[in-house]
Amino acid sequence: MGKTLTEKIIAAHLVVGEMIKGEEIGIRIDQTLTQDSTGTMAYLQFEAMEVPRVKTKKSLAYIDHNMLQEGPENMDDHRYIQSVAKKHGVYYSKPGNGICHQVQIERFGVPGDTLLGSDSHTPTGGGIGMLAIGAGGLDVAVAMAGDPYYITMPKVVKVELTGKLRTGVSSKDVILEVLRQCTVKGGVNKVFEYTGDGVKTLTVPERATITNMGAELGATTSVFPSDEMTRVFLEAQGRGGDYIELSADADAIYDEVVTVDMDALEPLTACPHSPDKVVKISEIEGLAVNQVAIGSCTNSSWLDLMKVAAIVKGKTVAENVSLVIAPGSKQVLTMLAENGALADLLNAGARVLECGCGPCIGMGQAPSTDAVSLRTFNRNFFGRSGTPSADVYLLSPEAAAISALEGVLTNPLGKIDLPKIAMPEHFLLNDTMVMAPAPEGVEVEVIKGPNIKPFPATQPLKNTVAGKALIVVEDNITTDHIMPSNAKLLPYRSNIPYLSNYCLAPCDAEFPQRALDNGGGFIVGGSNYGQGSSREHAALAPVYLGIKGVAVKSFARIHKNNLINNGILPLVFASEADYDTIELNDELVIENALEAVKSGKANLINKTKGLTYVMMLEVSERQKEMLLAGGLINLIKLKK
Ligand code: F3S
Repeated sequence: MGKTLTEKIIAAHLVVGEMIKGEEIGIRIDQTLTQDSTGTMAYLQFEAMEVPRVKTKKSLAYIDHNMLQEGPENMDDHRYIQSVAKKHGVYYSKPGNGICHQVQIERFGVPGDTLLGSDSHTPTGGGIGMLAIGAGGLDVAVAMAGDPYYITMPKVVKVELTGKLRTGVSSKDVILEVLRQCTVKGGVNKVFEYTGDGVKTLTVPERATITNMGAELGATTSVFPSDEMTRVFLEAQGRGGDYIELSADADAIYDEVVTVDMDALEPLTACPHSPDKVVKISEIEGLAVNQVAIGSCTNSSWLDLMKVAAIVKGKTVAENVSLVIAPGSKQVLTMLAENGALADLLNAGARVLECGCGPCIGMGQAPSTDAVSLRTFNRNFFGRSGTPSADVYLLSPEAAAISALEGVLTNPLGKIDLPKIAMPEHFLLNDTMVMAPAPEGVEVEVIKGPNIKPFPATQPLKNTVAGKALIVVEDNITTDHIMPSNAKLLPYRSNIPYLSNYCLAPCDAEFPQRALDNGGGFIVGGSNYGQGSSREHAALAPVYLGIKGVAVKSFARIHKNNLINNGILPLVFASEADYDTIELNDELVIENALEAVKSGKANLINKTKGLTYVMMLEVSERQKEMLLAGGLINLIKLKK
């Protein structure tokens, strides 16, 4: 029987378990990446494991999220990451070198490799034929230590691309169409594998836009074959030696099929406040626009920005619009500077930011009150822009550029006349902002400023787990709700005691203090709880606040794993209707928690209401061990 590409890469890396759909498997990780927002904690955890050098083929530490320096905290964090990376065998990408996923594709991605990154958009690497997965920082620390990464053997969805994109229609529209069809919940425990004749027409950066935003499906990852387009890209990056051909067998069997006819595709946009609220731009054209932001790990490649420069060349950004552009990498920005496209952008009235996440993570450029902001980014969750009253629409660079000129949301189809922009034969190669680690055996001092606080300690599970329902939240709570990540808070990502003051504050500002006053308790939530990012702080802050269990209708994958890694019980209502009966401050208890974890089923007693809820603990044997030990670090220490 033929194999999918996903199955081939997994088979080549399988170290624990069998490739049976739905069963847990452990895979060897070739490459890891961290960014600064999750990296400090990942390296603190790696240090706690007392492993002298990373055991991966290549590990990278990027600084791209928090580039503002309003106090010493950020630079102290960067200095810590730089020194700890140098000591333990990790390459360090300086601030200004670019967004982790863009740089990884350009300089380090290798077809057929596995990549684990402490950032939810790590699947971007699937654009170059990697099996690239986003995870919590602790998972990445464990992978750096040489241990396997555990996933549920995924279902594989065939995404059949037919036809060819018309001018004005972009690969962003392909992934928006997939999101429209499958929704933000449609990808759980699935890999989206792209096939069909249309694949051959897409360059690696276009593919990377699709795999990047595949994260919004909640998918394990997305992957493209490694083919002639991949070879051309790698050659142009001076890395032709990394190329191998990779594709699914012709008779591979898929679990589901999604089809996108690129000939018929129209420019799309995701409306506020969810990436799957997708409509045709033509349906809402004419909406007045205040801000256009181009960049992020989704659409900041050389190809993207060359298209934008060609559209705005010789024209002027509309009076009412602020156009901001954050190039994805130093390579992109330098090439734009050298070929004159940067001047075209500046002459048109664009503001060019440094190479980093910038407005995507709310680091500056918050829109004005009640503004309409068009963004080429991957997420438009409520409040993420820094302005809760703003309406953020996600769209392609082409649509963003033409709308910036017109001052209103504009359908680019038929309105832009783009010259054919060929991939350069040679990208500009200059890796001076990537620091190699110290050779093995060389002493390196790890520098820890006052903002670096140890991660909160956890305890082995007790047999009685009791506490109040300290907060009751609705469906689709994101990690941005659980642990907001804005310009004010990012400098404290290595300081959990400080950050925990803001845990779930967008839902209920009193929650953190209530949790501390009660000595901890339970969080109660709806479906898809913890969707969004791999932000481990969304589990670490609850640990600090004494949260013992999170009882929900359903979990988002990465957040659930992060809770388990940190010893918090992930409880799922067997009957969703039970959720409706719990109120704030209800007294809850699990009386036989050790046995409940072992059996995968708990009775959660609501003493206030006199009710008993059956809760499922959908965890693997290995995760059960973690929960009993009070988290992964405790378990690793126990097994030493
Ligand atoms: Fe950065 Fe936004 Fe991507 S925060 S890693 S550009 S999703």
